Amino acid sequence: MRYCLVTGGAGYVGSHCCKELAKAGYTPVVADSLFRGHADFVKWGPLCEGDVRDGDFLDSIFEKYKPAAVFHFAGLTYVAESVSNPGLYYSANTSGSATLLEAMRRNGCRNIIFSSTAATYGNPEYSPIDERHPQNPINPYGSSKLFVERMLKDYEQAHGIKYAALRYFNAAGADRDAEIGERHTPETHLIPLIIDAAMGKRESIKIFGTDYPTEDGTAVRDYIHVTDLAKAHIKSMEKLLDNKDSMCLNLGTGTGTSVLAVIDSVRRVSGKFFEEVPETRRAGDPPFLVADPAEARKTLDWKCEYCDIDSIVRSAWKWHNK
Ligand code: UFG
Repeated sequence: MRYCLVTGGAGYVGSHCCKELAKAGYTPVVADSLFRGHADFVKWGPLCEGDVRDGDFLDSIFEKYKPAAVFHFAGLTYVAESVSNPGLYYSANTSGSATLLEAMRRNGCRNIIFSSTAATYGNPEYSPIDERHPQNPINPYGSSKLFVERMLKDYEQAHGIKYAALRYFNAAGADRDAEIGERHTPETHLIPLIIDAAMGKRESIKIFGTDYPTEDGTAVRDYIHVTDLAKAHIKSMEKLLDNKDSMCLNLGTGTGTSVLAVIDSVRRVSGKFFEEVPETRRAGDPPFLVADPAEARKTLDWKCEYCDIDSIVRSAWKWHNK
């Protein structure tokens, strides 16, 4: 059997990646503390419960499974929480990655696909954002991930560990078969919250900021389907295993969608009406974040299959109603 280690494989993007790995003929070995992950999302290989900051725990997995590559999703992802509690983020995201890289070095594992983020760019100086855009994060979450990108460069130089740092824009939607989907506790993400409003689980949806310099005044994001993201991970691994160079790539669709346009999409897909409530801007939110995905398309020979917001929302709606 060909194994891959998937840290954070019980989480949202990690679990979708496990499904794609299984389809590609690999067995994903999930390492997850289950702090915010879900054991019922681990369906395609073994679950090793533990923390990536525990080097002995990692050694035992490397010794037992000898994974061909590591997919590193384990980490925390709430921008607001990172502002109020930065230590949590530098520990889980930065220190956790340092422990993992040391374990890879000790155990001779030479390939890592890292879950980075558009938050490493900070406020866009131009749009769409390509990989050459300066990286000046405006919150500890973005900084905690940028430090890892720098460690990856250093570990490549010193120890020959090859990497793909994949900078996601906004992961969205759910698995086509609705086996897994987007479930965060607490939930802060736009699409699941709007769907909750459409399902009558919450009274309304708040719009954080209606005075942004965008067409309708609400913030614009590049929503990319989670399965498209997962497929880009598998392709990145194949390139690394094929001895191609390390890479930093933006993963997005190249299309921006405003908060109001996402709300309209959920109304169209669900046929439900719900209230929207204008609120002040949320701290740490850039006005717009849209990827230039040209480099990823070329390097990975990859493109998004879910091209419009309605198809992404439809997959999420199906999963939430299951
Ligand atoms: N929003 C609302 N109302 C809500 C929730 C969100 O108006 O109830 C707005 C936000 O202010 C933002 C947009 O919807 O403008 C998207 O918000 P999300 O919370 O869904 O996603 P973010 O863009 O804040 O963050 C996502 C990931 C992060 C990652 C970031 C990179 O969740 O992990 O993209 O840009 F860092």
